[in-house]
Amino acid sequence: MFRMNHNITAGLAMVALFTTAAAFAQNDNAKPIQPRAGDPVAGKAKSLLCQGCHGEDGNSLSTLVPKLAGQNEGYITKQVRNFQAGIRKHAIMNDLAMTVNDDDLVDIAAYFSSRNKMKGDGSTNNQIGKDLFLTGDMSRKIIACVNCHGANGKGLEPNPSMIPVIGGQNRDYLSRQLINFRKGDRSNSPDGVMNKTTKSLTDAELESLAEYISAR
Ligand code: HEC
Ligand code: HEC
Repeated sequence: MFRMNHNITAGLAMVALFTTAAAFAQNDNAKPIQPRAGDPVAGKAKSLLCQGCHGEDGNSLSTLVPKLAGQNEGYITKQVRNFQAGIRKHAIMNDLAMTVNDDDLVDIAAYFSSRNKMKGDGSTNNQIGKDLFLTGDMSRKIIACVNCHGANGKGLEPNPSMIPVIGGQNRDYLSRQLINFRKGDRSNSPDGVMNKTTKSLTDAELESLAEYISAR
């Protein structure tokens, strides 16, 4: 019982820290993340290239390509800017991100964000993954994922949060990202929070989390 309370308190403190940081977040080139409200209708036409891999409605077919359906628009914008700046590394996305200008980016983000939120098939309820997701393990500084990523990983409200929707995301993509965070190959989360959170996860725990989260 004590562990759980401690967990929630620590988690909420982190969330508070984050939402403040996110509200004032600037991109790495000192441009505001959302310079204006995006136009989803314009974004649909501007995102044809992106739809080729991420799917017309943001539900990608390849399991290593992330779904963007219903993803937070501020998060989408931040990731593309991080790819542009080389702060997040991926051979294909680093090049593709360079083809998008700032004006188109807000519309494209608004389009994918306006699609029906990504959803898993509910097929598995991996117990190890579920326990870590809901309670974490403070003895190893693993803050429960639910504190930041929301119930079933569907994100926090209000929506402009920089915290991504992960519930229903492709399983292979999720495990790849968790591995990248753990190794430090991906280090673009605010204050390295995802590196700290994944640091002591075992391979089995990491795969259990990916399985549990992708099915939500
Ligand atoms: C050739 C296939 C391909 C195309 C075309 C493509 N992407 Fe991607 N995208 C990927 C892959 C693969 C990843 C995963 C990168 C990784 O593993 O880190 C990705 C990742 C992303 C992410 C990060 C999502 C997350 O959950 O963190 C965003 C945002 C994104 N792409 C936006 C775009 C936009 C906008 C376009 C159009 C300009 C686009 N992509 C075009 C393959 C593609
Ligand atoms: C304190 C808040 C916080 C906690 C706790 C947290 N996360 Fe995150 N997570 C974030 C933020 C913020 C990002 C976005 C990083 C960025 O800007 O690139 C993120 C990103 C991710 C991503 C990448 C999503 C994508 O589309 O690429 C995954 C996967 C993820 N988290 C899984 C988890 C799991 C699993 C846990 C629990 C073991 C967890 N997170 C706990 C804040 C948190």
